[in-house]
Amino acid sequence: MSCHINPSILSADFANLQAELEAISTADAAHIDVMDNHFVPNLTWGPPVVKRLREVSPVPFDVHLMIEDVDRWAPQYAEIGCESVTFHAEAAIAPIKLARTLREAGAKAGMALRPATPVEPYLDILSELDMLLIMTVEPGFGGQKFLDVTLPKIRRAAVALKDSPTPLAIQVDGGITEETIVRAAEAGANVFVAGSSVYGAEDPSAAIAALRQAAEH
Ligand code: DX5
Ligand code: ZN
Repeated sequence: MSCHINPSILSADFANLQAELEAISTADAAHIDVMDNHFVPNLTWGPPVVKRLREVSPVPFDVHLMIEDVDRWAPQYAEIGCESVTFHAEAAIAPIKLARTLREAGAKAGMALRPATPVEPYLDILSELDMLLIMTVEPGFGGQKFLDVTLPKIRRAAVALKDSPTPLAIQVDGGITEETIVRAAEAGANVFVAGSSVYGAEDPSAAIAALRQAAEH
């Protein structure tokens, strides 16, 4: 698959979210970080806010759930029209069942791994998923530095998926810049979340284009 750039609205102006979504209309999707102050020490928004934002967004929604009790909450995001819903492996009780529920509700199913969570225990269930998210920072906050120690895991996941009969995207999230995106792409990632490097730029659509060019180089 060609590379995808998904800006994270965690770094957007929260007083102008509709305009901030319109500013990234050249992106492949908007990355929506949902945090519950339990799974991560930060708090953002829930289904009613995400539902309304989806209604006014020119791009699909890629929801990243950094929450506990995710088996219960994740299906709601599919039901309100989010195109892709990602839960954390560390938080899900029944990841296979949850992925199937998300797909039945019409969403793509993603599973995320924190930087220190190995991919190997999950290799057998990857066929149940549309996307594997390998966190390249500890989840919770934007603006952190890319962790190079996650590169071997991206590589191992990409090798394991090379001959997979079902296509599976490898997403990376955290500290993605024009420089780190090159290393992540070389390791095998093809969906890139970028918060501060898009919304911190003067021209978000130019930043998206620059990231795309760097990833595809
Ligand atoms: C962090 C979030 C990220 C965050 C990335 O927990 O999952 O999506 O917005 O922000 P940057 O790109 O600034 O590291
Ligand atoms: Zn995220």
